[in-house]
Amino acid sequence: MSRTTIGTVHGKTGFNNFKFLVEDPSVERMEYIKVWHESDNWILGQVLDLTKKNPTYNSDRDFDPTEEKIIAKSSIIGYRDDNGLLRPPKTPLSPGDEVYRADDSLICESLGIDRGEVYIGNLDRKDLEVNLDANELVQKHCSILAKTGSGKSYTCGVLIEELKEENVPVVVIDPHGEFHSMRKPNKSSKQKARMDEFNVSPKGYSNIDIYSTGDNLGKKLVLDGKNLGPRDIIDLLPTNPTNTQTGLLYKAVKELRGRRGDYDINELIRTIKGYDSKSKWNLINQLEVVADLNLFSANPTPIEDMVSPGKISIINLKGFKPDIQEILVTRLCNDLFMARKNEKIPPAMLIVEEAHNFAPERGFKSSASTDIMRTIASEGRKFGLGLTVVSQRPARVDKNVLSQCNTQIILKVTNPNDLKAIKKGVEGLTTEMQDEIQSLPTGVSLLVSNDIEKPVFVDVRVRKSSHGGEAVKVTKNSGKSKKKSTNKNKNKNKNKNKSKSVSGSGKTKKGTEDFAEEGEDGGLMDKIFGK
Ligand SMILES: Nc1ncnc2c1ncn2[C@@H]1O[C@H](COP(=O)(O)OP(=O)(O)OP(=O)(O)O)[C@@H](O)[C@H]1O
Ligand SMILES: [Mg+2]
Repeated sequence: MSRTTIGTVHGKTGFNNFKFLVEDPSVERMEYIKVWHESDNWILGQVLDLTKKNPTYNSDRDFDPTEEKIIAKSSIIGYRDDNGLLRPPKTPLSPGDEVYRADDSLICESLGIDRGEVYIGNLDRKDLEVNLDANELVQKHCSILAKTGSGKSYTCGVLIEELKEENVPVVVIDPHGEFHSMRKPNKSSKQKARMDEFNVSPKGYSNIDIYSTGDNLGKKLVLDGKNLGPRDIIDLLPTNPTNTQTGLLYKAVKELRGRRGDYDINELIRTIKGYDSKSKWNLINQLEVVADLNLFSANPTPIEDMVSPGKISIINLKGFKPDIQEILVTRLCNDLFMARKNEKIPPAMLIVEEAHNFAPERGFKSSASTDIMRTIASEGRKFGLGLTVVSQRPARVDKNVLSQCNTQIILKVTNPNDLKAIKKGVEGLTTEMQDEIQSLPTGVSLLVSNDIEKPVFVDVRVRKSSHGGEAVKVTKNSGKSKKKSTNKNKNKNKNKNKSKSVSGSGKTKKGTEDFAEEGEDGGLMDKIFGK
């Protein structure tokens, strides 16, 4: 227990914040502190800002440096009452009350950072694990937002590793083909040096399938093209059909359904070709674009194969044109949603990277997939289909989707419009926290979650598996870093066996190790300079 005072409460105090005169110059911004309250016991607070002043200072005369005062502005987080609820003190703190550094147990208990099984990282500058509840995370959706290169995909990888170890099926929409590297253990020496800090070790995961165009990376993704309804077809078309074309489409589908057999897009094209209308040609042209993708067939990839306990299915969109990516995502998300609604697949997490492209905010772009993204965001909770949206442009992601994300992981953001969007969507975000977001180092995030009482800064843990999104080096010698070693070896016990209704079996299944060799830059130098 911390017994040395670091300051005394000073000036006017309230129920939400107070100031204190700092006696220990090592007190830092965002540090957790405590103050004894006669009726409510220890009250947890957080230093939001620090200022220095010296009343003897005058530029014309000598001044006394020992008279320098440090004032800390602090927020009051509160105390746990007899029912376990976090409350502000019943009466304000008193000037002269002594301020101490908060103990780890008080921080954990007051903030509720250790109630779950999904280990995101450690409380920034503290040796305290931050764990989220897997059920809450999946049921109530998540967003990972940050400017480019700040650690979104890396954090997403941490989330996938944790969900996989809880047996939760994960489907990842991967526009850049980054996530297949999870099959291999993390080989980065810099990151391995930090593994003791987080009590993790390198690990490659099995039961990962990659669905793509059918190249050597994985399985070919084929979607169900049988008996599509007019609305489904309109969603797939590269441009919106006119009213006349929509009429032709309805007519053709009605006719084909009347024949009582299965039909596909090619049959639909043949039927429309038989109609006597000038408008048909543009519609036929668009339908042929969809048919030529060879993405649809009467023998689609079974959605049940893609989603099973402990499985990670990566939908690698690399190589598909943006409009085709949209078609694919629309159809796949619809299939996933329907399969979950009809309980054909277990509860699962759908992760959408570059979400601003698949659920764009009105006015920036339109995308066929927006509707299904909104549906999953608003109804997924009922059916156990979780959504994690990842974006470097929060301002450009559909607000209906973002507002449904109860867990927000925000890494460094500097764009004023993106900051504004974050401010609107995050409860309990102080002005000081907004300032802090702009200067966060890579891998440090602000975590906002229903599970946790207040937004907290988290040092996201290093990955067990290899990260596939490393930046491409432009010169052969750039990016050399000194090796840093750590002798910290902390004994942390993670409670990994709590109840997990989303994980189906409730058992923790560990992936097997895969020690395939790969260079640390994942062959990127070869891609740039050629072999
Ligand atoms: N928690 C972390 N611990 C250690 N290194 C990290 C962490 N987060 C990110 N990094 C490093 O930062 C780099 C960039 O991270 P990442 O690829 O996740 O960025 P991003 O936000 O997804 O960028 P982009 O918008 O370009 O996709 C990673 O290659 C990794 O080296
Ligand atoms: Mg990324």
